[in-house]
Order: sequence, then structure tokens, then C-alpha cells
Amino acid sequence: MNPINLDDYEALARERLPPMVFDYYFGGADDELTVRENRLGWQRLRLRPRVLVDVGTRSLKTTVLGQPISFPVLTAPCAFNALANPEGELAVARATTSADIIQVVSTAGTYSLEEVAAAAPGGARWFQLYCYRDREVTEWLVQRAVDAGYLALCLTVDAPLVGRRERDARNRFGLPPGMTWKNLERVGLDRMAQRDQGSALVQYISEIWDPALTWDAVSWLRGLSELPLVIKGILTADDARRAVDHGAAAIVVSNHGGRQLDGTMTTSESLAEIAEAVGDRVELLVDGGIRRGTDILKALALGARAVLIGRPYLWGLAVAGQAGVEHVFDLLRDELDLDMALAGRPTIESIDRSLIWQPKA
Ligand code: FNR
Ligand code: LAC
Repeated sequence: MNPINLDDYEALARERLPPMVFDYYFGGADDELTVRENRLGWQRLRLRPRVLVDVGTRSLKTTVLGQPISFPVLTAPCAFNALANPEGELAVARATTSADIIQVVSTAGTYSLEEVAAAAPGGARWFQLYCYRDREVTEWLVQRAVDAGYLALCLTVDAPLVGRRERDARNRFGLPPGMTWKNLERVGLDRMAQRDQGSALVQYISEIWDPALTWDAVSWLRGLSELPLVIKGILTADDARRAVDHGAAAIVVSNHGGRQLDGTMTTSESLAEIAEAVGDRVELLVDGGIRRGTDILKALALGARAVLIGRPYLWGLAVAGQAGVEHVFDLLRDELDLDMALAGRPTIESIDRSLIWQPKA
């Protein structure tokens, strides 16, 4: 099959990846309601296109935290990219750099943050942070991200513990020999081999991450470096206001792709609530179930500056390495370009709330 959309990539990746890896990437928590609903949330929204607008030239360019990007998509931080392809995060770094977009690099990389930065010099990237019980470990990660030229820190706040992912429990998910949490090697927190029972990830996270983190940590982290702090994993207006009050430069509206608490609002619903509350005070990003150009259009219309995609680039990576990731970006970019033309919105700035149909109450 010659993939012509993101679902084709998912189908091909399903054929090619070992079931344990496909399940880890694809799956979510409990009944996977939120995995499905995130996608449906975008699909349920309806567009109100305008006609006879000059769409002869279009521009998808925008900025996020002042950084110019070629179109409004970032790669979401996803753990263990080398499970998809030996080049892992390095291939993603090259693909995002050649596409002129931002890579958000996970703490849980199979290459170190320095190796990722060196793979594509000049590329724009943020470092996604998980906080360790040992605060010195977290401080050390932050300093390394600064030294390696990362442009922002992205603190993920929806995973004090890991969600109940039954696929991983059944498969006894763990990393194969030779693969580690590369960023944590020097402090001996890098091993996550398969265990006799259950998911090794559950064990790792419950022993090593700090489940007692509160808003104080946001102030502490802001004091560690000059980098802007992005908070990822917020779903309500109340928390969004607190994030802004604590100095967040941007918020990623996210439910972790349905991998944490199952049965939350969809991210499209949360985005609408949050944009209303703080949309004029902070840049908003959103992820979860974005698979089409029209999904991006709807997210921007609801107030997002850009979107993140998670699983789709892992599928591209699994199918064809760096070229597969680049093709996933090309598909999304082409879809968005056409959708903007058909919606009568030739620039990113022209996409506004009136593009979303609201049924009369
Ligand atoms: C993730 N996600 C994630 N988030 C994060 O902040 N740090 C991480 O290390 C990971 N790891 C991770 C691994 C895998 C395999 C997946 C699928 C997801 C969540 C991710 O950043 C993002 O929020 C979701 O993936 C977005 O949903 P979609 O695009 O996958 O539907
Ligand atoms: C995940 C973690 C590592 O979603 O963020 O698998």
C-alpha cells in the first residue's frame, strides 16, 4: 500500500511493528475511551466555510513562542522512538529540522538530549521534562537542555503515576536489551528491562518519578533557567488560569493521548473552555487525535496557535524512518493547505472562531 493519509500509516505500522511495540504506542488507559473520543471530538465539530475569498496564494507559516515554523504542527514528546526504528529520536530531529517545525523531545528518549541536538544542528526543539524524586536529577536535566540549545522546557503534569494500560500489562511491556532511558544513564536510572509480570514502565515510574509535585514546582523550575516554561497536560480553565498565574509561557491542552486518566473531556472540548478563559493571556497548543488537516483547522479556529501530533509520526518512523516522518508532515501540510483554501481562510491569521458551527441552543 502506498500511504496517502495518516490512517494508512497506522495500518502499515500495525503490520510491521512487533505487537508489544504497536500496543504500547497505540494503546491508552482502561477502556481506551479517551483515545477514541479525542479523535471523534475533532470529527464532530463542523466548519462554516466562506466563499469567494481570494485563496490564490496561501501561507501556512506562523510562530510559536516567537519561533517561526513552516506550518502549525509540532511533534509531541513520545517515549522510546527507537522501538519504531533504530534511528529513533535522531531521525525525528532530522525530519522536523528539514520541515522547519519544532520537535518536543521526551525525557524518556532512547537517545540523549545532546545526541538529538547534534543530529540536526540548527533545529528548533523543546525539552519535555518529567520530574524525578531526586530534585538534583531534574536540575541536571534542565541544565543540560539549556547547554544543548533547547528553546523551551515543557513540563508534563498529567502523569504523577502512569495510567492503567492493560495492553502493556498483558504484553509485559519493557525495553529490549541494549535500549535504555538514555538521558538518565549517568545516574543509573536508565534501565527498564522486561519483568516477569506486568509493565516495566509502571514499575519504573512509580519508583522514580515524583508523584508529590504541586504548583510550587512550577515556580522552582522557572527559577532554574531562563527558558520559557510550557505546561503540558491541562484540561480545565481553572488549571489553565493557575498555570498562567505561575508564569507559564504556553499551555499544551492535552490528556496525554488518552494514556492517563480515561474518560476525560476530549481535548477539543477542553481547548474551547480554556481558550475562553485564558486565550488572550498565553499561547495555547493542543494535542490528542489530530489526524487530518481539518482537525488542525478546527483546533486553530478554537484558539490554538498550533497542534502537536504524537502517534502519527511514530507510524511514519516505523514505516520508513526519517522519510516516513517527513511524508507524514507533507500529508498533513498538504491537507491543511487545501482545507484553508476550501474554507476561505488563506492565512493562519484569518482562521477564527466563526469557522466553527455552533448549534442553536
Ligand atoms: C506519549 N506521550 C508523552 N507525553 C509526554 O509528555 N512525555 C512522554 O514521554 C510521552 N510519551 C508518549 C509515548 C507514546 C508512545 C505516546 C503515543 C504518547 C503523550 C504525547 O506527548 C501526546 O500528548 C499524545 O500522543 C497526543 O495524542 P496523539 O497525537 O498520539 O493522538
Ligand atoms: C507514556 C509516558 C512515558 O505515555 O509518557 O508512555
